[in-house]
Amino acid sequence: MAKRIFIKTWGCQMNVLDSETLQGQFAAAGYSPGEGAEDADVIILNTCSVREHAENKVLSELGRLKSIKARRPEVTIVLAGCMAERLGPRIRARYPQVDIVLGTRRLGDCLRLVAESGGCGVFIGDEGESYPPRDVRQRASRVQAFVSVMRGCENYCAYCIVPYVRGRQASRPEGEIIDEIEALAEDGVREVTLLGQNVTAYGRDAGEKGALCRLLGRLEGIAGIEWVKFITSHPRDTGEDVFRAMRDLPKVCGYMHLPAQSGSDRILAAMKRGYTRSEYLAKVQLLRETAGDVSIAGDFIVGFPGETEGDFLETVDLVRKVGYKNSFIFKYSPREGTAASLLRDDVPVAEKKRRNNELLRIQAEASLSHNRSFVGRTVKVLVDGTEKKGGRRLSGRTAGEEIVIFEGPPDLVGGFSQVGITSATAITLFGEVAGGERRP
Ligand code: SAH
Ligand code: SF4
Ligand code: F3S
Repeated sequence: MAKRIFIKTWGCQMNVLDSETLQGQFAAAGYSPGEGAEDADVIILNTCSVREHAENKVLSELGRLKSIKARRPEVTIVLAGCMAERLGPRIRARYPQVDIVLGTRRLGDCLRLVAESGGCGVFIGDEGESYPPRDVRQRASRVQAFVSVMRGCENYCAYCIVPYVRGRQASRPEGEIIDEIEALAEDGVREVTLLGQNVTAYGRDAGEKGALCRLLGRLEGIAGIEWVKFITSHPRDTGEDVFRAMRDLPKVCGYMHLPAQSGSDRILAAMKRGYTRSEYLAKVQLLRETAGDVSIAGDFIVGFPGETEGDFLETVDLVRKVGYKNSFIFKYSPREGTAASLLRDDVPVAEKKRRNNELLRIQAEASLSHNRSFVGRTVKVLVDGTEKKGGRRLSGRTAGEEIVIFEGPPDLVGGFSQVGITSATAITLFGEVAGGERRP
């Protein structure tokens, strides 16, 4: 019987993509996907270190895996990804049920290490970097795919662990990216999302300027791909050339994930973000003047060291001014080794929680008014499935990443539809099909 692999993933889209790539590596070697950890021969935990909470979830999973390992010592447990990189040998010392600790730059070795008897150990750092080739058929959605355009990040925002666990920024060659997207298009993908921690600085490590816009221009020529999105844009590195590409290139969607992190100049400086509140607002204005109806998403951290009520209110005000489609809001979590970890984490937990809830509430109002502006309009939707497993209504996303649930025939799944929007909540648009491509 074929051996079974089970991969559980935490963290950002990069990790989702890395897991799909690992899945492909094992599928090519004859492994079949397991239902869960219980029936798997190889268990991979692809982990995230961005906040303590993310790590705690993995540590409790390791607790559960301990009994599986005790019952079935032949199972191989791999702890991969950002926690592997951050904690390295500390993981195996505390959690001996883990056989292999595999860093973010060693994923290409995973299959070989699992196959080698006694391939146990800690494999991290940037020496012997190796990435598995991607099997484009391994992906969660038939119609949408992520494509990595760069690895790493060297912005060193004061709070952030990513540069330490993902290494320096390294852009992938344009030709390699285009080949991959052509293969995805041939396999039925209609929308690609380019991934980079600092995606608008694509190519900078190779001394190039404007490389993202050139890449976007070349993607216009790939038949089958109709929508192109890219995340995440650092406000400092995002400017008019990108906004113009959004306006002038028909496939480039009007969606911009442009994290501000804070609305206070004092906190932005302490975070080492490299822009001020007014520079940020000016970029948002230029974006809307240039590219029109763009859906903007944000990220915010509340309770950064030294954040006063006044600083927080500036963040609240910024959220109101920008009118984000949605924001990801996080309570500051000190990360060992980062610049901010040397500052006193002086905002009490209860206060972080209050600011977090308050900002969520303000953002929900903004999301509701954003979504309500769609009611009565007909929008183009890429239909990727049903609202839930076995559900009747269809679900999809717009060019601006709004989630749409609508009534329509099931054969619309996998294509684009025109949907008349009839109502909206802060999270979802609801509607009825007004026309679409049916699958043959
Ligand atoms: N490269 C992306 C962000 C990657 S991390 C960017 O620059 O926008 C995703 C988000 O996690 C960040 O935008 C930030 O809002 C949040 N985050 C990162 N480190 C954090 C920390 N130590 N505590 C709380 N939130 C954090
Ligand atoms: Fe972290 Fe800043 Fe890099 Fe984003 S840009 S990954 S927040 S260091
Ligand atoms: Fe987490 Fe690593 Fe992504 S720390 S957010 S999985 S780059």
